[in-house]
Amino acid sequence: MSNANEKTVSSRIRGFYTKTRGERLEAIRAFSNLDYENLAILARDNPVGFELSDTFIENAIGSFPLPLGIATSFKVNDRDYLVPMAVEESSVVAAASNAARWAYETGGFRAEATQQIMIGQIQLLDLLPSEMPNVEKTLFANERKILQLANDCHPRLVARGGGARGIEVRSFPNAEIPFMVLHILIDAQDAMGANLVNTACESLAPHIEIITGARVCLRILSNLASHRLFTARCSIDPDMLKTQDKNLNGAVTGADIARRIVEAYVFADNDPYRAATHNKGIMNGVDPVVIATGNDWRAIEAGVHAYAAQRGHYRSLSRWSFDGKYLHGELTLPLQLGTVGGVTKLHPVAQTTLKILRNPSAAELGMVIASAGLASNLAALRALCTAGIQKGHMRLHAKNVALAAGAVGREVEQVAQMLVAKKCISSTSAEEILQLLRSGSVPSKASSVNASLEMGA
Ligand code: MEV
Repeated sequence: MSNANEKTVSSRIRGFYTKTRGERLEAIRAFSNLDYENLAILARDNPVGFELSDTFIENAIGSFPLPLGIATSFKVNDRDYLVPMAVEESSVVAAASNAARWAYETGGFRAEATQQIMIGQIQLLDLLPSEMPNVEKTLFANERKILQLANDCHPRLVARGGGARGIEVRSFPNAEIPFMVLHILIDAQDAMGANLVNTACESLAPHIEIITGARVCLRILSNLASHRLFTARCSIDPDMLKTQDKNLNGAVTGADIARRIVEAYVFADNDPYRAATHNKGIMNGVDPVVIATGNDWRAIEAGVHAYAAQRGHYRSLSRWSFDGKYLHGELTLPLQLGTVGGVTKLHPVAQTTLKILRNPSAAELGMVIASAGLASNLAALRALCTAGIQKGHMRLHAKNVALAAGAVGREVEQVAQMLVAKKCISSTSAEEILQLLRSGSVPSKASSVNASLEMGA
């Protein structure tokens, strides 16, 4: 829920990337009203102590930190957001911020969510194909009872407005072992829902056996959360897509770039080989927010890709069209997210990132994530259909190569810049440059690697 004070805060923070860590933290504090305890968590280099890691998983030996960044310039349904992203890949945060800024100029993203319904599956066996239609009738005749039994497992969820909403029955008479599946549809509200659904399925199973005469085998949620969908849309002024790059692959105007983005979408929508990469570009915006908020990214990945294959073959999750005035983008994907319970409540960084997002419901978080996915897709397509991604990517990648070669402090930027100038970004070159720098054979006065093109601030 937004409040009056929010009218004054904007996610469109100019030059965020040029700020020091302290200045960035202060900007986030001012934006999200974070308390100093949360700031201290963000400022700590290892905020997850061993004790906590040891309770999260078995055989813990430590934790695996990922860089945590903030994507700026997001506006979703008229509300500004700073979007926390945990990701190791350079360019991802910059690309999302950049595309969010293009959308910001035309009002940002519009997003919507269905109810937060998860599917629990109960597999029924030892049935003849000829018996299946009757079993289906029996299950629907007992729907109210089944829903009541499911709700009996979760009185608190029901009290919060969630609970079992309906059933679906599917038959597989021609499978090598014929079987049926009962789906229990459960509104998980702000929980991811895995435990809720699995508990309900397990406790329902004996009753289902009695009702149907079938034998139950599996009782587990489906990660294809096709009743928990999020859609984000944006309309982009093609002028925002123009770049200063000389090599635009033949594109001259913003409208040229918009048309090429549509061509790129058509490629992905028809060719699964391209769709996999195209959708990976979408997940560049989705997964980092999912991870930063302590959510289960394996579940999300599994669900999203299964959903992308639901219409006959694996296709683009997004859609782009150009009406001559605006480039219109739309992304629909299933997201099984929680903002209460589980790791989200225990992980100090996840708690803090949720505060940066101003404590969203699962539905609100999903709308922000869908918008981040659409933004990442747009940034990738715009780069791919103009200068290509390697130039910008390599400039940031060069820093990692410099670091790996042993550069420290200011050397990192200096070596990176020289690697880019040499157009040869390899560890051997980095080591050579570093040696020359340290021996004083190369003037060390190199201006900082110019990330401004990526950040577009
Ligand atoms: C790289 O992380 C993502 C891209 O390959 C996505 C795409 O090809 O659309 C650039």
